[in-house]
Amino acid sequence: MAISSPEPLTASHDTSGFSCGKVSLDRWLQTRALSNQQKGFTAVMVVHDGGRVIGYYGLAPTSILPLRLPRSIRTGQPPDPVPCLLLGQLATDQRWTRKGIGSGLLKHALERCVTASGLIGGPALVVNAVDDGAAAFWRGWGFLPSKDDPLTLFRSISNIAASLGVSQQ
Ligand SMILES: CC(C)(COP(=O)(O)OP(=O)(O)OC[C@H]1O[C@@H](n2cnc3c(N)ncnc32)[C@H](O)[C@@H]1OP(=O)(O)O)[C@@H](O)C(=O)NCCC(=O)NCCS
Repeated sequence: MAISSPEPLTASHDTSGFSCGKVSLDRWLQTRALSNQQKGFTAVMVVHDGGRVIGYYGLAPTSILPLRLPRSIRTGQPPDPVPCLLLGQLATDQRWTRKGIGSGLLKHALERCVTASGLIGGPALVVNAVDDGAAAFWRGWGFLPSKDDPLTLFRSISNIAASLGVSQQ
């Protein structure tokens, strides 16, 4: 069976066997993702193989103290706190890694962030890396570490839009 395109998580998806190698991300998908999605805290998108989830991401609004932002993003006179977008989760099941699922999901999330920022504002996307390896993954995607925490990284929406070749509304 061909894997699906990214789609919103629903109760019909099977998350029970998902295993990405990071217990916190597995557990969040299996115990929190659906209720967070249904209550509007997080938008959770999944790709699946015949209903079994093999990759997912979670996007939510957030706010950040201006001093935590890299200088290149903290331009002008930002409000305090600064409204931002949070990619709180991104994971691929270990049986499906290195097939482009993670980067496909990430590109999907980045496109949605550019659209969302154009509609309601938010100058940057924030990610929380689960460990140093994940932080290296995010730096490879152009994210800059916070001044006070190497596991919190930022990328400006204008930089994301330019790299995707899309215009910010
Ligand atoms: C990181 C992750 C989402 C990548 O998923 P994927 O489906 O394998 O992604 P892709 O197939 O699109 O390939 C992603 C590229 O990222 C790179 N990559 C994967 N994990 C990496 C890491 N920890 N550090 C640096 N680079 C990494 C790989 O080199 C790969 O490129 P390559 O195959 O050309 O070498 C997946 O490995 C995962 O779920 N890891 C555990 C959870 C995690 O760390 N999430 C991200 C941060 S919170």
